[in-house]
Amino acid sequence: MKVTVVGAGNVGATVANVIALKKFASEVVLIDIKEGVSEGKAMDMMQSAHALGYDTTVVGVTNDYAATANSDVVVVTSGLPRKPGMTREELVGVNAKIVKSVVEQALKYSPNTIFIIISNPMDAMTYLTLKSTGLPRNRVIGMGGMLDSSRFRYYLSEALNKAGHPATPTDIDGMVIGGHNDKTMVPLVSIATLRGIPVTQMLSKEALDDVVQKTKVGGATLTGLLGTSAWYAPGASAAALVEAIALDAKKIIPCCVYLEGEYGEKELCVGVPIVLGKNGFEKVVNVKLEGEEKAKFDESVRAAREVNDQLSE
Ligand code: NAI
Repeated sequence: MKVTVVGAGNVGATVANVIALKKFASEVVLIDIKEGVSEGKAMDMMQSAHALGYDTTVVGVTNDYAATANSDVVVVTSGLPRKPGMTREELVGVNAKIVKSVVEQALKYSPNTIFIIISNPMDAMTYLTLKSTGLPRNRVIGMGGMLDSSRFRYYLSEALNKAGHPATPTDIDGMVIGGHNDKTMVPLVSIATLRGIPVTQMLSKEALDDVVQKTKVGGATLTGLLGTSAWYAPGASAAALVEAIALDAKKIIPCCVYLEGEYGEKELCVGVPIVLGKNGFEKVVNVKLEGEEKAKFDESVRAAREVNDQLSE
């Protein structure tokens, strides 16, 4: 499998590095507009191949889309990250221009590729990619739910340990759907489990509310600590989506996709669980939403539509 990663910044370089470490791709091309950065990071990664025991070729180029030709997957991380105090949505104007031009150029050389969109505001950038390329919806996937679910599992494990239930994030099943947005993402508390047991049986309502709030602002918390947005978990999450496609894993992962009536919605891209395999997103998985979770999902959809409206302004 050949993968292109557009943007060799914090997230893009991490995606390329994790893909190489996981050994499922033959080639990763890292491309950026900044002269020398992709080349330098790719060379640095190739010089870790011996120590880490991988034989994936990592190539770095500046603006040379010919080198990306025939990529099976193109991961788009190009664009500005947020600074402390900013929302993802504030990036819409500047990143829309970058994402639109990048996907156009990548598609010229890889007409059959599957896009994974990372650049923020990710739900709107996924919608923009789908609309501007006219690609079938199975080939345009936004990454946000995988990351938010990882943060949810992390905060659940913290709360469970505090309540006397030993847990690591990997012992937990938990999913976040809706928009990749500080205010309206929807951590699904009702179906989260620790080794098969509902977390609602182990944590108080107060503790669960605290987990939900920490999950929602998980990205902002890291931006406050780091001065820019995070990259280890975003990079690992994006690489996990590429891996599911490469291995035709048919994994159920919450991702941002274009809805055509599922969850009662259409004409937007928002996070829902999907089956991910070699053709990209194969189908939407229906989770029955009730009560508060359904109301929160509807609110998240409204928020995503508002950002999409700004794309045409
Ligand atoms: P960064 O600033 O470290 O890297 C961005 C890179 O994009 C830079 O190297 C820049 O030169 C490059 N770039 C800009 N315009 C370009 C173009 N036209 N073609 C190719 N490359 C171009 O930023 P970072 O931290 O890597 O974040 C990248 C994006 O990912 C941001 O928009 C950020 O908000 C988003 N993000 C999304 C997450 C998600 O869960 N969806 C999680 C974390 C970040």
